[in-house]
Amino acid sequence: MMQLKIDISNGKPFIGDKCLPRYQEEVDKCHQMLVNRTGKGNDFLGWMDLPETIEEEMINRINEDAAWIRAVAEVFVVIGIGGSYLGSRAVIEALGNPFQGLIGRKGHPLVIFAGENLSEDYHANLLELLDHKSYAVAVVSKSGTTTEPAVAFRLIKKHLEDKYGREEAGKRIFAITDARRGALKNLADNRGYVSYVIPDDVGGRYSVLTPVGLLPIAVAGFDIRVLLDGARQMREIALRSSDCEQNPCAMYAAFRNIIYRNGKFIEILVAYEPTLLYFIEWWKQLYGESEGKENKGIFPAGVTFTSDLHSMGQYIQEGMRTIFETVVSVEQPAKTLHIPDDPDNIDGLNFISGKRLSEVNRMAELGTMMAHVDGGVPNIRITIPAINEYTIGQLIYFFEFACALSGYALGVNPFDQPGVEAYKKNMFALLGKPGFEKETENILKRIEK
Ligand code: PA5
Repeated sequence: MMQLKIDISNGKPFIGDKCLPRYQEEVDKCHQMLVNRTGKGNDFLGWMDLPETIEEEMINRINEDAAWIRAVAEVFVVIGIGGSYLGSRAVIEALGNPFQGLIGRKGHPLVIFAGENLSEDYHANLLELLDHKSYAVAVVSKSGTTTEPAVAFRLIKKHLEDKYGREEAGKRIFAITDARRGALKNLADNRGYVSYVIPDDVGGRYSVLTPVGLLPIAVAGFDIRVLLDGARQMREIALRSSDCEQNPCAMYAAFRNIIYRNGKFIEILVAYEPTLLYFIEWWKQLYGESEGKENKGIFPAGVTFTSDLHSMGQYIQEGMRTIFETVVSVEQPAKTLHIPDDPDNIDGLNFISGKRLSEVNRMAELGTMMAHVDGGVPNIRITIPAINEYTIGQLIYFFEFACALSGYALGVNPFDQPGVEAYKKNMFALLGKPGFEKETENILKRIEK
């Protein structure tokens, strides 16, 4: 099977030839920490084995539930935030037709997302849409207590019960949460919802290969076995060796840590396929939450080209020289489109007539890479042969494993996110949540000043 490749030749001039071999020892240590489970956060390493440990029975169950949902629903609403929605959205959008919402084929429900924001307009518009659609819901929360999805679920549950009655609504709700704890677990048990467990040792942003990602992906009509196969193949490569020349995860983790120490504090993940927009969002969360702590870490940003060459392109070419780019490059599109010849040639485009649009896109990619490197922006390229379940599975595992290695190289715990609590504390204090009385008093005084 063709596999993901990494090319750092356009990054190397920025770090020098000797740097990587010198850094290998550091990578070996981090790799050992990870595979021997001796590093920080080692009680959250379940994601590492998911492609192997997921049971056949679980895959069958997910596929059966997905088939039922596909038969009864025009819309499947996935309620969750952060790691509880970004992975499924990333995969569904990467593999899907960008115009899926307008195609509306029977038996192919549109998967849409809720509870990833607190916008009144967003949720009111969603409920208005659901008035006219048959639908089912997945509510996803590892902790089972996160405010945004809990609020969205309360709204949607009421809508669903009003529409179908409590009994039928209960059949259309799928709860994906912790095995034992949390308000969602209690609600699911109390109402008898079909439930899936998020393993204790898998954190939100590493959970796409659990039912969190797999159920919505299967509902969208994609082959979760092939997705897992791709991840499994990358797992073998990732675990087998820590040698940067053999293991692309090790190479990526090493490169980004070396370049960070050379003053490149911002990494931009670039894609030339707009369907990868949410893959970039998933990657931003994975790296931002895993590494951005203790006043350290590369800031993960993302762009889709060529669109963003007409917005962010100026900055990347000539702004502060603290950035580097990682391009996710796709060799072959799934479809074929030739640029037609036009005898009038008023637009002057006959010099590219007969070419495939992907060839023009490829030249844009090559030309941009050269311009950015000339402008002082190191460039790494991660190439996949095409976008499909297998390669997306590979990419997921590649970025997860590299993130864990990279976090260890940085010296942080890549599996916690203590900083996410700060805004919650203030929000609860401002909303007068029971148990936050002292905080409410303090925050109100602070506002009065
Ligand atoms: O990666 C993480 O752990 C977080 O981004 C969580 O996924 C996010 O905060 C949602 O948490 P929960 O699934 O508990 O609702």
